[in-house]
Amino acid sequence: MKKIKMTSLMMTKYGGINEVLEFQEISKPTISSKQILIKTKAASYNPLDYKIIRGDFKSVRKIDFPKGIGRDVSGIVEDIGTDVEGFKIGDNVFSRISEEYVGTMAEYVVSNESDVCLMPSNLNFLESASIPLAGLTVYQSLVDIAKLSVGENILIYAGSGGVGTIAIQLSKYLGANVTTTTSTNNVDMVKNLGADKVIDYTKQSFLDDNEKYDVVYDTLGGQHTVDSFKVLKENGRVVSIAGDLDDITAEQLGLNKFIRFILSMKARKITKAASKINASYRFYLMSPNGNQLNELAKLYEKEFIKPVIDNTYTFEDSIAAIDYLSKGHARGKVVIEFPD
Ligand SMILES: NC(=O)c1ccc[n+]([C@@H]2O[C@H](COP(=O)([O-])OP(=O)(O)OC[C@H]3O[C@@H](n4cnc5c(N)ncnc54)[C@H](OP(=O)(O)O)[C@@H]3O)[C@@H](O)[C@H]2O)c1
Repeated sequence: MKKIKMTSLMMTKYGGINEVLEFQEISKPTISSKQILIKTKAASYNPLDYKIIRGDFKSVRKIDFPKGIGRDVSGIVEDIGTDVEGFKIGDNVFSRISEEYVGTMAEYVVSNESDVCLMPSNLNFLESASIPLAGLTVYQSLVDIAKLSVGENILIYAGSGGVGTIAIQLSKYLGANVTTTTSTNNVDMVKNLGADKVIDYTKQSFLDDNEKYDVVYDTLGGQHTVDSFKVLKENGRVVSIAGDLDDITAEQLGLNKFIRFILSMKARKITKAASKINASYRFYLMSPNGNQLNELAKLYEKEFIKPVIDNTYTFEDSIAAIDYLSKGHARGKVVIEFPD
């Protein structure tokens, strides 16, 4: 039987964004019994996409090239597996697809039913595609891990980024007092998202602010992770999505004891800083989850959270889009629109 083809943006090897990405005609994917085939209407990028292209994770995750890119999708259900119960052909859905089925920069995408959710009824495809990976990251970090609660003080680094713009809004919804960092151009934007206090990092360091926090949400890593403990209350929590791996996550990733030992040596500044003030440190790696996406969808429908899109590119221009994101100064999300 002749295979039906589709266009997909593919990584051909590790390297520079403008050298290793190309559009290829590949087979339209097929689904198994608990999967959904989505006709892509929009997709979005996350820093993970360009970090993988750069080869940042090549020692821990092997890739067979060519490989698709992109993890966030919104679109129309084209086909459902025989055991799919929660969705029907024609539904508008969105998903952070599982790593096995990456990528979403393609005309059709496969997702496990358990990773799919109906789109928020008040949002369009572009807005919905901006949510899954960043939204689930924030939800899992602040609700499941930090257990952020009413009246607590939280410091969120990079409030203007894809993650930060959602973190500010979810923290306010949870009743926390939010301080965030950003540069001058974005100060008004993060205030409008609900930040109670904004530190313009080009003019002042959060270290000089004399404020102590119950929770620091570290979206920057490096020295920011270590410095988080200098502004944390006794017994406070640092949740990082960009710093050094903690042992819990290293074990979840199946890393062997030797690698975990090396990682624990690398993270010893953090462990020391945490134990001095009896604080906790968690590095958190998000995972796809259709049920939690549904919880988020309700918050978007009630407008407790609004999507923040920096820019929309056409599928044709999707290489320029990831190049832009990789500069590290996006204001919200970078979204790709697919042709009808
Ligand atoms: N562990 C996980 O599961 C997970 C999940 C999602 C994301 N992440 C990681 O989390 C990080 C953030 O993701 P993202 O999607 O939010 O990235 P992003 O959208 O690319 O972040 C860009 C934002 O960062 C701000 N920024 C850059 N340097 C800053 C600084 N020194 N201080 C304050 N703000 C600064 C920029 O603001 P200015 O232009 O004003 O500088 C810009 O608005 C990435 O490293 C990503 O890989 C991890």
